[in-house]
Amino acid sequence: MTTQFNRRNFLSASAALAGGAMAGSTLLPGEANAATAGGRDKVRLGVIGTGMRGQVLLAELVRRDDVEVVALCDIEPIMLKHALGQVEKAGKPRPRTYGEDRDQKAYKRMLDAGGLDGVIIATPWEFHAPMAIAAMQAKIPVGCEVVAGITLQDHWDVLNTQLKTGTPYMLLENVCYRRDVMAALQMVRAGLFGELLHLQGGYQHDLRAVKFNSGNPAKPYGGGVEFGEKGWSEAHWRTQHSVERNGELYPSHGIGPCAMYTNINRGNRFTRINAFATKARGLHDYIVKQPGGAQHANAKVKFKLGDVVTTTLACENGETIILQHDTSLPRPYSLGFRVQGTDGLWMDLNNSIHIEGVSKPHQWDDFKAYQDKYDHPVWRKYAAKAEGAGHGGMDFFVIHAFVEALKANAPMPIDIYDAVTWSAITPLSEQSIAANFQTLDFPDFTGGQWKSRKPIFALDGKY
Ligand SMILES: NC(=O)c1ccc[n+]([C@@H]2O[C@H](COP(=O)([O-])OP(=O)(O)OC[C@H]3O[C@@H](n4cnc5c(N)ncnc54)[C@H](O)[C@@H]3O)[C@@H](O)[C@H]2O)c1
Repeated sequence: MTTQFNRRNFLSASAALAGGAMAGSTLLPGEANAATAGGRDKVRLGVIGTGMRGQVLLAELVRRDDVEVVALCDIEPIMLKHALGQVEKAGKPRPRTYGEDRDQKAYKRMLDAGGLDGVIIATPWEFHAPMAIAAMQAKIPVGCEVVAGITLQDHWDVLNTQLKTGTPYMLLENVCYRRDVMAALQMVRAGLFGELLHLQGGYQHDLRAVKFNSGNPAKPYGGGVEFGEKGWSEAHWRTQHSVERNGELYPSHGIGPCAMYTNINRGNRFTRINAFATKARGLHDYIVKQPGGAQHANAKVKFKLGDVVTTTLACENGETIILQHDTSLPRPYSLGFRVQGTDGLWMDLNNSIHIEGVSKPHQWDDFKAYQDKYDHPVWRKYAAKAEGAGHGGMDFFVIHAFVEALKANAPMPIDIYDAVTWSAITPLSEQSIAANFQTLDFPDFTGGQWKSRKPIFALDGKY
């Protein structure tokens, strides 16, 4: 079933590719050409979860002519109202809405109602797996926000449902579409770093004002020390994960690009994993330093999540990758990318690069000239359109990729194997830390297919 499905998709993608070239159009290889690919010009999409992230993604959807947003679901009426306002402001028809009654299963009614060519899931992490599974069972293609699931079993369940139903699934990992990340991919593919040996990335983002607020919907970031029932937006659900879990809780922003660079699931795979965690201090410190915080009941909460969690992965082809999760301490934002090979390395923190034979020995060069030279074709083509889109433009590209793949019936650029492999780092890192930082085998979700799968990431010059 899967093989057939992949083959069919591959054939239509090839047709789209050939069609684009023949027509002499401005389509990049792999972009949808409905006329030649037997695909569609337009897709009807629904969004489950119209909170802060859902609204950013919705902004990308409503400005496209090839997307009709036909259904919205959220169990928080305020968020649903904001989302409806966005659609109305864009001059688009009013979508059907679900969840005003706060029914947590309202999304099922939305899926059952049909009329959807795809659904975007932007709900709290714990809902991603059940919602994606329900959508795939209803044969509705899924674009799912990071992460794919919570437990290791969730990841197997999401994978097995995709394989059984053949319904497309894409993890909406936007950092893979960051401009410098994509330029670095071009550089890796051009062999500029030589043979790759070591990579680093992570999620190093001071989220204290995301994890705590006053519960006021008009002010979702900071201004208080509430979380859980009394918190708003991510403080309502994300903070509880810091209370109950200790691991690399948000791996995909760091591992997505590193996995692309090393062709994970496409000739390479993760073989072993371990994780180490520091003690937990940052969130408690933050609470007691806020006005009235020391007297607040939350000053007594014990947080389990180590302030800095360091995860190491070993790859079949001999590379190592380090991820760092660092969300509870004062620090400027940095994903901390490092791509290092036999001929040099790039580090994003200072936009610095060193290439032997080009750079002066022991000196960094500015990345700018390399960025310009190796700028990815999709960025060259769509930079103006991406202007103003979320996260420096990359949110335009992640939505563009999902929509174009849907229209062309082409393989999803960040597919089910990528999704579960990247996201399963969380439960595996938790398992390692709980077992005194034990090194564990990394499961092969591809069932051996990683050996023959080709590096056909759509990022490979496509969409
Ligand atoms: N890729 C990125 O850059 C990025 C950035 C921010 C958030 N995210 C991810 O997006 C997701 C959502 O985060 P957010 O910041 O929007 O959080 P949020 O709390 O602002 O929004 C989540 C929304 O889901 C709704 N919801 C909860 N349960 C539901 C249910 N059963 N049915 C329908 N709706 C339900 C909530 O009412 C809320 O409006 C998370 O997975 C987060 O990790 C990704």
